[in-house]
Amino acid sequence: MDPPAAYGWLRENAPIRRVELADGLPGWLVTRYDDVRELLADPRVSSDATDPGYSLLGAPRMAGKDQSFLRTDPPYHTTFRRMLGKHFAMKRVHAMRPRIQELVDKTIDELLAREKRPVDLVEHLALPIPSTVLSWLLGVPAEDQAFFNKASEDLLARGNPDVADADERSTAARTEMVQYIAKLSDERLAMDDPGEDMLGDMAKAVKDGTISREAMINSGVTLLVAGHETTANMTALGTAILLQHPDQLAEMKAEPGLRAGAIEELLRFLTIVHLIVVRVAKEDIEVAGQVIPKGEAIIPLNFSANRDDAHYPDPDVFDIHRAPRDHLAFGFGVHQCMGQPLARLELDIIFETLFRRIPGLRLATEAESLPYKTYAPINGLTGLPVTW
Ligand code: HEM
Repeated sequence: MDPPAAYGWLRENAPIRRVELADGLPGWLVTRYDDVRELLADPRVSSDATDPGYSLLGAPRMAGKDQSFLRTDPPYHTTFRRMLGKHFAMKRVHAMRPRIQELVDKTIDELLAREKRPVDLVEHLALPIPSTVLSWLLGVPAEDQAFFNKASEDLLARGNPDVADADERSTAARTEMVQYIAKLSDERLAMDDPGEDMLGDMAKAVKDGTISREAMINSGVTLLVAGHETTANMTALGTAILLQHPDQLAEMKAEPGLRAGAIEELLRFLTIVHLIVVRVAKEDIEVAGQVIPKGEAIIPLNFSANRDDAHYPDPDVFDIHRAPRDHLAFGFGVHQCMGQPLARLELDIIFETLFRRIPGLRLATEAESLPYKTYAPINGLTGLPVTW
């Protein structure tokens, strides 16, 4: 659960370091907290994936107008943020609390009813909760729920050395999911009034020519991936960490006011989205005495920033009392995670309910032998065997 030791060396010795990236492009690793934050807020630092210098770190390139909004710049990007932002507004998200609580309770009922132990908490809790919540947000009909959950899960298999044909399965699931979201999108596009939810708003924007149909579909897939794997991995890794710090877990249970801060510390400590935040310099940019030339990729390493001892004392110690409010686990600047209120709400409900309802919960294996996704750009576990 720790970042590579080399990040610490880079922060000390070469905080803005030119490297060759896996796809052959030159890129700049940025490792200190202050520099990562400064660059992510700089309008000369771009997310435009059509720029030839932008590195997708191996992911496929798409035509410019069809990109998901994740990899675009203002003002086009701002159109999307405005359109989708209201669906993530605090009030609207918090109105989902009773429904999410009911879902978590039902999922834990099923978990408790299982006769065989150990139980895999990834399969039976971490994955199904966020994919069900996402299906509500995207307007997936109840009868498609099982397909949606399965395809979301398969999508995440890419690179997993323990799954037979992982990459083929993941590619097939992605194709299925794109087709499925295309079908949902086309149904909305055919309606006179496409509705008030996220797909409805995007369909209106396609109809009035603001965005393309493909951009709508690709953004739908981004929403799904951004909201599913992240929350699932935070659930699994967060549970594993809390179980390894029983004193802090006991404190958190005894004093519910500590939970929100504990979740922020989990977000900082784990920084699961660690190789997705990629940028390109639109101009020559000087940072910390180093010039990053126009047209070269920038990799602001938020995992390194969140473990920078110039910003957080004893950064490698997990301490729920730290309750950091300024960590970069959700990124920073115009692309800062839209789903933060939802992620925090889901994690709050899951951790509160899980540890209250299964007080004897414990790992069914040594922490060192848990199956970490060391191959993936989003940190996580492929399984979490627990018992009670
Ligand atoms: C704990 C869970 C989560 C973490 C750690 C996380 C992390 C991140 C990070 C680091 C970014 C910035 C990417 C960049 O700067 O290039 C981001 C963007 C985004 N996240 Fe999250 N995320 C989480 C949960 C969610 C959820 C539940 C949703 C809801 C669907 C969501 C939706 C998005 C979207 C739509 C963006 C793109 C924003 C933009 O480009 O303007 N995320 N997330």
